Amino acid sequence: MSEITVVSSARRLAELAAERFVTLASTAIAERGRFVVALAGGSTPQPMYRLLADVASLTFFKAEAPRSLAVDWSRVELFWGDERCVPPDHPDSNYRMARQALLPPLVPPSGGEILVHRILGELPPAEAAAAYRVELEAVLGDKGRFDLILLGLGSDGHTASLFPETTALEERRYDAVAVYVEKLDAWRVTLTLPVINNARHVIFLVSGERKADALARVHADQGTTSIPRLPAELIQPTDGTLTWLVDRDAAAKLEG
Ligand code: 6PG
Repeated sequence: MSEITVVSSARRLAELAAERFVTLASTAIAERGRFVVALAGGSTPQPMYRLLADVASLTFFKAEAPRSLAVDWSRVELFWGDERCVPPDHPDSNYRMARQALLPPLVPPSGGEILVHRILGELPPAEAAAAYRVELEAVLGDKGRFDLILLGLGSDGHTASLFPETTALEERRYDAVAVYVEKLDAWRVTLTLPVINNARHVIFLVSGERKADALARVHADQGTTSIPRLPAELIQPTDGTLTWLVDRDAAAKLEG
């Protein structure tokens, strides 16, 4: 099942995404005692992460905050959909972005810790991918499912670090692999299609006119018999929901 919601602005996109995150987290924790989520990298999710941090501060420290906004962060297992192969304090690090935007206020006042499973970008790529697979196996078990995977969309139709014409797109055995992205002349570690398409919920966050062509191509092919051409078209959860939250600029070339 795929749903697309067009919102008026990047700010509204962040608000709606944060609301969905809180709802899914609360439901997962109530039903299964934990919320296993993979964060998206890049710049689009940053306002949403800041909003989640604000909400966490509000609910932790202001008793009158609506309980519906409360997430028990001590039950959230934080992963990343992908990471650049750089140290955690490097400006390009997806972990660094989330650590600055989201993590600071999340330590519950009762103590405890946020369960962060970062990709060790400072290691050689293959070692970083192998270490991440160990983390994934330890938390998800064999063929376990993420409760939520957040994804972005590149203007070339990539998502996570599943770039066109890369080996990672063909990976069907491992849940995470290292991949050399020639166009960037850079190594990445990324979740792969099997584990992404096994998630309970996948949410794309897409903002800005720069993404309009890619978004239109992805949705033009939906439901057609043509072989999916863009990596983002391969995101088709087998038994989960797929939601596109996009702002008006990104949706400018969508039909209908
Ligand atoms: C990354 C992301 C990547 C990102 C898209 C969109 O590490 O860069 O995982 O897939 O989501 O490239 O990036 P922006 O949000 O910066 O446009």
